[in-house]
Amino acid sequence: MKRAALFLALVCLSGGAPYENPALDGDAFNRPISGLGETPMRNFRAGGGLFRRAWIIGPSVDENESIGLGPLYNRLSCIACHVKGGRGAAPDPENGAVRSMVLRLGVPGRDAHGGPAPHPVYGGQLQPDGIPGVPGEGRAIVTFEEGPVTLGDGAVVSLRRPHLSFADLGYGAFGDGVTTSLRNAPPTFGLGLLEAAPDDDILAYARTHGGRPNLVWDAANYLHDGRARTLAEAILWHGGEAQHARDGFAALSSGERDALLAFLTSL
Ligand code: HEC
Repeated sequence: MKRAALFLALVCLSGGAPYENPALDGDAFNRPISGLGETPMRNFRAGGGLFRRAWIIGPSVDENESIGLGPLYNRLSCIACHVKGGRGAAPDPENGAVRSMVLRLGVPGRDAHGGPAPHPVYGGQLQPDGIPGVPGEGRAIVTFEEGPVTLGDGAVVSLRRPHLSFADLGYGAFGDGVTTSLRNAPPTFGLGLLEAAPDDDILAYARTHGGRPNLVWDAANYLHDGRARTLAEAILWHGGEAQHARDGFAALSSGERDALLAFLTSL
């Protein structure tokens, strides 16, 4: 998030021009930054090929470069989750299937690097599919429970709370104490600009701006697990540090709420 703030600052400082994308079509997130030299452009194309490649199970006579799928896997290609270089889809509204999300798994304790300890059987991530002969690990399913919230002026809005469940667990029940974290695939564009910014500059920027980065809102579904269908819903889910903002929003008149939403969607 701090990097996102710096990225916005860099784009503003540069007047936006070199980073603007001339064609705002469905492929806008997949294009190279302008002004790439010959070698970086070659790398861009090669990398783009890898990003789109559907991996296959070996051995194969003609497709040696694409071998490497399995024995367990999530999707056949990178772009299956990072859709067109943008973020992944929200859970399927029909059946709750999460196709471009990753479910991280853990048990109490720490791994060798201080991160969450992986599940002893399923590891650190649920992998729904397996090559023939290898059962997939199972599927994460997200369904939503809707409930009303009354705002200060009496307007009632509906919030949906995600409920995570599992189907077809291939290697037995998770057991007690399993921890889960469902994550949607983030957009992949703009990462190079952020990489080019030295960490010290990013930290200094965050310090001089109160350490509170801007939030970058994405289209269609909001929040990390895609639960919020509208910006208003995303704001109303804020708790903890942002509880104040959430309560303030709920207390606004409908005209003020509309103005705030208009601001956020015009940034
Ligand atoms: C099953 C879906 C899925 C597939 C397939 C997938 N990703 Fe991701 N990717 C994710 C998720 C989810 C995250 C965010 C992880 C997190 O928040 O911990 C992520 C994060 C990333 C990030 C970090 C982005 C950031 O802003 O920090 C990069 C870069 C990335 N993936 C590239 C790739 C590449 C390259 C491939 C193919 C080799 C790939 N991904 C395949 C789901 C996927």
